[in-house]
Amino acid sequence: PGDHPLPWQLPPDHPVDPAQQTRKLKDLVVPAFQFHPFTDPTTGERCSYCFCGVRCSKSVVGDDVKILDATGKYVMPGGIDPHTHLEMEFMGTVTIDDFFTGQAAALAGGTTMHIDFVIPVNGSLSAGFESYKNKAKKAVMDYGFHMAITKWDDEVAKEMELMVKENGINSFKFFMAYKGSLMVNDELLMQGLEKCKSLGALAMVHAENGDGVAEGQKRMIDLGITGPEGHALSRPPVVILKTCLFYRAMPVVTCDFIFKLSKFLLLQYTLLHTYVDIAVRRYVMSPPIRKAGHNKALQSALSTGILQLVGTDHCTFNSTQKAFGLDDFRKIPNGVNGIEERMHLIWDTMVMSGQISVTDYVWITSTECARIFNIYPRKGAILEGSDADIIILNPNASFKITAASHHSRSDTNVYDRRTGKGKVEVTISGGQVVWEDGMLNVMPGSGKYIRMAPYGYLFDGIEKADAAYLASLRAPVHRTKAAA
Ligand code: URP
Ligand code: ZN
Ligand code: ZN
Repeated sequence: PGDHPLPWQLPPDHPVDPAQQTRKLKDLVVPAFQFHPFTDPTTGERCSYCFCGVRCSKSVVGDDVKILDATGKYVMPGGIDPHTHLEMEFMGTVTIDDFFTGQAAALAGGTTMHIDFVIPVNGSLSAGFESYKNKAKKAVMDYGFHMAITKWDDEVAKEMELMVKENGINSFKFFMAYKGSLMVNDELLMQGLEKCKSLGALAMVHAENGDGVAEGQKRMIDLGITGPEGHALSRPPVVILKTCLFYRAMPVVTCDFIFKLSKFLLLQYTLLHTYVDIAVRRYVMSPPIRKAGHNKALQSALSTGILQLVGTDHCTFNSTQKAFGLDDFRKIPNGVNGIEERMHLIWDTMVMSGQISVTDYVWITSTECARIFNIYPRKGAILEGSDADIIILNPNASFKITAASHHSRSDTNVYDRRTGKGKVEVTISGGQVVWEDGMLNVMPGSGKYIRMAPYGYLFDGIEKADAAYLASLRAPVHRTKAAA
C-alpha cells in the first residue's frame, strides 16, 4: 500500500545487524502478520519490524513471540488446493482421508487451504451441505466448498441460489462421467450452466462422457479384459473431446467463459506419466493417465500461462479399498493422493527445472486460485489484512516422498520414492506455526469455513462477450449462408 516498500524488500540503506536478527527480542514491534511500514508515519522513526533495532510506537508484543529465521529461504503465501475429495462417499466406499488427516497432510506439505466438493444427499444440496459441515468439524485448516449437481428440478435450481446467497458457495460441479451415480446428462448440464451464469457462479466439469465410458467398459469386459488396464483402455481421449465440442457450441455460456474455465490442471497429469503403469490398481483414476509426453505438454502450458492452476483431486483409497476391483476394474475406486505432495512436486518439476519463476510458483499454487474463487487478497497473498497463511520453503533442502512417511491415512502413495529439491520447512496457518522441524502441531476444529462470494473476476466483461456473440449470430453473413 502507498509508497511503502513491500515487506520483503528492505530499503537499500536499511541497517541489518546479524546479532539483532537472532536475539531474543523483548517488546519487539511486530504487528502480528500485518504489513507494517518501515518508517513510523507519526514519529518518523524506523521500526524494529525488520530487526533494525529502532522501536516504534505501532504495536508491541510480549516475550512469547516466536521468531523464525528464514535467511536464504522463501517466505510465501500458503498453497491453496482447488480440488479435493475428503471423506467422500464414492464407488461403494469412502475416501480414506477425512478433514483431519487430509488437512494435516496438506499442512505438512505447505497447503493451508483447500476447496472440497460437497456431494448432495439424494440430490439435495442443503442435505449435502449439512453433511459436509459436520464432516468439517474436525478441520485443522481453512476450507471452502464447491457443490456438485447430480439431478435437476425446480428445487435444485432454488437450492443453487440459496447456496450462493446464504452459504458462501460460488462454484458448481457437473460430473459428466460416473453413469448411474454422479453423472448428469446434457440437458441437465445446459440448465445447470445457465443457472450458474445467472448467479455469478463458476461451473466446473468432469469432462469425460459417461455414456461413452460405459460403452467402453462393456467392450473391455466382452473382450475378457478385467484387470486395471481395462480402466484406461475403456476411456480413450475421444470421450473427453465430445464434451469439449459440446461446450463450444453452447450459446448461453460464452466460449470465452468456457475457455477461462478450462484453465485448471490436475497434478497427476502434469507429473505422473513418466513412470505410471496403467495395469496397477493404485494408479486408477479418472480420466486415466495417458501416454508419456502428455505431462511435458501440460508443463509447457503451465509455464506459458495457458493453464493457470494446479489442483490435486486428492481422493485417496488404501490398498484394501483398491482391491474391491480385484476381478473387475469397474469396481476399483477411482482416485489418487496429492494434497501433501503438490507444493513440493510443482517446485521441483517447474521451478527447479527453470520452467517457471518463483513468482509464477506463488501465482500457480496460491494467488490465482484465490483470485478465481474471489477470496483474494484474504487468501493468496501476504498483505495487511490477509489471513496469516504462510510457508517457508528452503530451496536448498531435499524431499523424499514415501507411503511410510506421508501424513495421509492411505498405505500407498502414487509418488512413492520420488525425491526432489525444495522443502517446505515451516507452515503457518491462521497465524499459528503448525508444521516445523518435521512435526505437525494441529488442533481439530481450528479450521474455518471460508465463504466465497459470486461474480469473481472471470465474470468481468461477460455481458459484452455475450452481446458480441449474439450480434455475430444476427450478422448478415450468417443469414446469407443459411439461405444458401
Ligand atoms: O479419479 C478420480 N478423479 N476420482 C475422484 C472423482 C473425480 O472424478 O473427481
Ligand atoms: Zn473428476
Ligand atoms: Zn475430483
